Amino acid sequence: MIPTKLDAWKKIDQHAQKLKEKQLSSLITPAHLDRFAKKFHHIYFDFSKHFFDEYLHNQFISLANDMNLKNAINSMFAGEMINKTEKRAVLHTALRQQNDTPVLVSGQNIIPLIKETDKKIEKFVNAVLSGQWQGVTGKPIKNIVNIGIGGSDLGPKMVVKALDDFRASLNSYFISNIDPFELDKLLKDIDLETTLFLVVSKSFTTQETLTNAQAIQQIYIEKFGKNSIAQHFATVSTRVQKALEFGIHPNNIFPMWDWVGGRYSLWSPAGISIALSVGYQHYEDLKKGAYLMDLHFKNTPLKDNIPALGAFISMLYNNFFGYETEAYLPYADKLKYFPDFLQQLIMESNGKSVSLNNEKVSWQTGNIIWGNIGTNAQHSFFQLLHQGTKKVPVTFIAEKENSTTHFPEHHLILLANMLAQSEALMKGEKNEVLYKNFEGNRPSSIILMDKITPQILGSLIAYFEHKTFVEAWLWQINAFDQFGVELGKKLAKQVLQDLINDNKKSAHDLSTQRLIEQIKLKNRS
Ligand code: F6P
Repeated sequence: MIPTKLDAWKKIDQHAQKLKEKQLSSLITPAHLDRFAKKFHHIYFDFSKHFFDEYLHNQFISLANDMNLKNAINSMFAGEMINKTEKRAVLHTALRQQNDTPVLVSGQNIIPLIKETDKKIEKFVNAVLSGQWQGVTGKPIKNIVNIGIGGSDLGPKMVVKALDDFRASLNSYFISNIDPFELDKLLKDIDLETTLFLVVSKSFTTQETLTNAQAIQQIYIEKFGKNSIAQHFATVSTRVQKALEFGIHPNNIFPMWDWVGGRYSLWSPAGISIALSVGYQHYEDLKKGAYLMDLHFKNTPLKDNIPALGAFISMLYNNFFGYETEAYLPYADKLKYFPDFLQQLIMESNGKSVSLNNEKVSWQTGNIIWGNIGTNAQHSFFQLLHQGTKKVPVTFIAEKENSTTHFPEHHLILLANMLAQSEALMKGEKNEVLYKNFEGNRPSSIILMDKITPQILGSLIAYFEHKTFVEAWLWQINAFDQFGVELGKKLAKQVLQDLINDNKKSAHDLSTQRLIEQIKLKNRS
C-alpha cells in the first residue's frame, strides 16, 4: 500500500495548502470546538488551534479507511504477529487488560500468565514495603535502584516522578548510563545495607545495564559475601537463564516476554520500580487508566477516536506542511521526564525509512520530538517558537488541580502562562518594528488532565502509544522494531577493544583512529 498514491492523500494535500493561508483563529467556531476539543474521562484534549477542519478530518478518515486502519488495530489487540521483522506479536495492551478474555500468542492464552506474574509482583512489593524483606544485615529496605536503560528506564522513571504525590515509603533511584560519575555518586548517596537493586533488561545483553549491575554486585560480594545477592538484587528479563548465570536468585527473577516491545516495558514487570515506589494498588490503577484508553481506541469510530485525531494532526504538519519537529511541553514539574519518554516512544518507533513491504519509502515518516517543562522553557527556547523561521507544532500538557494545598496562586500562574503561550502562538501581535512583530498562526494542542493520578496518567501514556501506532500504520512502517540502534552498539565493542589493546591494524577511518589515539594518550599519561 502506497499512501501517497491514494486519492484521500492528494485531497488532504490540496486542502492543507489552502488552509495554510488562513488565519488560525478564524477557524475556531463553536462547531469546530465541538469536533476538535474532546473530553475523555478526566482528560480534556484540545486540538482546536490547528490548521484542521471537518473536510480535512474526513479525508484523513478516508485515508485511514482505505488503508484498513481498523483491521490493523484489531490485529494488534488480537495478538497477531504484526512486528513482522522480529516475528513477534505486540501485546502491551494485554498487560493492562482488566478482564479474563483470552489473548492468544501462538495458540497459548497469555492472560493467566500475566495474572500469575502480577500476583508475584504484588507479593514482592508488599514484602518490601512492609519491612518484611530484609537486607543482609537484617535491616528493612529503604532505597530501590532501577538499573536499566531505554524502555527499561525511561517509562518507569517518568511514571515514578509523575506520581510523586502517591509515593510510598521508599527512596527511588534510577541509574541508566555507563558514565561512572553517576554510579559513583549513587553509591555515595545510598546505604548498601538498606538498598534493593532491580536489574531491568528485556534482552539481558545491554552493555550499560550489565556493566553497572556487575560492578554493584561485586561490591556486595566483597563486602557481605555471595549470599547477600539474593537479598539485594532482583531482575526482570525475558532471558531467565542469563539472569541465573548472572547470579540473581531464582525467586527474584520476574519474567518479561518477547511480545512486549522495549518502549512499552513499563506495563510489564519492568514497571516493578513503579509498584515499589507508589504501592501495588496505584500501579494497578495506572494500568486501568491505560485500559480505558485501549477500549476507546479499539472501539470508537475514527471520527471520535482521540489517538487517531492526534495522529492525523501530527501527519498534517509532518507530511503536508514540511514541519520536521514537534515540541512537547508539560507545565508540571512532575512530568519532567515525559518528553524523554516520548522521544523513545515516538522516534524509536517511527524513525524508519523502509516500508512494511521492505521498500524505501518516498514520504516523510517519524518526526523529531523534543521538549522541556514550562515555564522554564519559556525562558530558553520559546523565542524560536514565537519568532524563529522554523515552525514547530506544540503540545502543552498540564493538570488542572493544584497538587499541593499550599501556594494556590502559583499553580494558577503556571496555567495562565501555558494558556497565554498557546494563545500568543496562534494570535501573534502586529508591530511595525519587525523584530517586535509576532506573526502568530503557529499551531498548538493542549492536553489538560483534571489531576495527575495513576489512572489518568495511564490513559495519557496509552493515548501517545496509540497515536504513534496510527502514524506508523498510515506511513506503512513497522513501529515495533529498532534495528537502527544496532550498528553503533556493534562498533562500540570494536572501539572498546582498540582503546584497551595496542591494535596496530586499525579497522577504523582516519578520523576515528585519531580520536582513539587521543583517548589512549590521555589514559596513559
Ligand atoms: O538500544 C535500544 C533498546 O533496545 C531499546 O529498545 C530498549 O528499550 C533498550 O535498548 C534497553 O533494552 P533492554 O531492556 O533489553 O536492556
